[in-house]
Amino acid sequence: MTPRPVRASDPVGIFDSGLGGLTLVKAIRKLLPYENLIYFGDLARLPYGTKSPSQIRAFSVENTQFLLEHGVKALVIACNSSASAAGRHVRNHFKHLPIVDVIEPAVHEALTRSKNLRIGMIATCATVESGMYEKFLKAGQSRVRVFSKACPLFVPLVEEGMWDDAATDLMIRRYVAPLVRKRMDTLILGCTHYPLLIPALKRFLPKSIHLVDSAMPTARKLEKMLLQKKIKNPGRRKGRLTLFVSDKPRQFTLMGQRFLGEPLSRVSVVRR
Ligand code: DGL
Repeated sequence: MTPRPVRASDPVGIFDSGLGGLTLVKAIRKLLPYENLIYFGDLARLPYGTKSPSQIRAFSVENTQFLLEHGVKALVIACNSSASAAGRHVRNHFKHLPIVDVIEPAVHEALTRSKNLRIGMIATCATVESGMYEKFLKAGQSRVRVFSKACPLFVPLVEEGMWDDAATDLMIRRYVAPLVRKRMDTLILGCTHYPLLIPALKRFLPKSIHLVDSAMPTARKLEKMLLQKKIKNPGRRKGRLTLFVSDKPRQFTLMGQRFLGEPLSRVSVVRR
């Protein structure tokens, strides 16, 4: 069957292991308000950050396939663990699909901001172990020093809504203090859940350290790609946001609203 031609009014697909990628949806809706968006959050299989690369690759291909079945014209991989472990794999698998992920935009932002080229990166175990951030940072600037730290307890702390809590402050100190001692001047938040910890991180970090949240840089990269491919929606009506999840666990509504910054509407559960 010949694939139907891509139309600018077709939706952009975004997937994440859960609801964290909604922080990116928020940025995309701000920058590209006329784009129709379809989001898939794989809540039934969250977390990805503790899974093996081959498992993350398989999930990422399935998520992309699901979004393609809903007619997406382009894909955003919002999940850092997927982008790190499966970004190349997904691109090879879906050669004709324009794809943006969160790593390169965050790396570009960090290299632009850092003055001393000592950059910290906090993320899930899968992202840190992939070494992708380090690879991209070094490819952009060979003199950069990268200090990475896996913070496996941050995702459950955020999921429990404990972003303003002594236990979280303690874990921030434990995970992030060694990076501060390395005299980093920039810290990449390499996980979709971490933007919710920005106030707590700012309380702990010296003011001179710049935090990099990939949401807006990724939205800008998406806009650039849509323009290049001539598929940016020229419409002037607010784009539709359609949400799919593979499960609705407890705290679902609360978490979703916190990540998206507005009430969730039209959420459909799809069984995987
Ligand atoms: N979405 C994941 C990421 O950005 C965080 C949660 C998980 O471990 O699945 O790495």
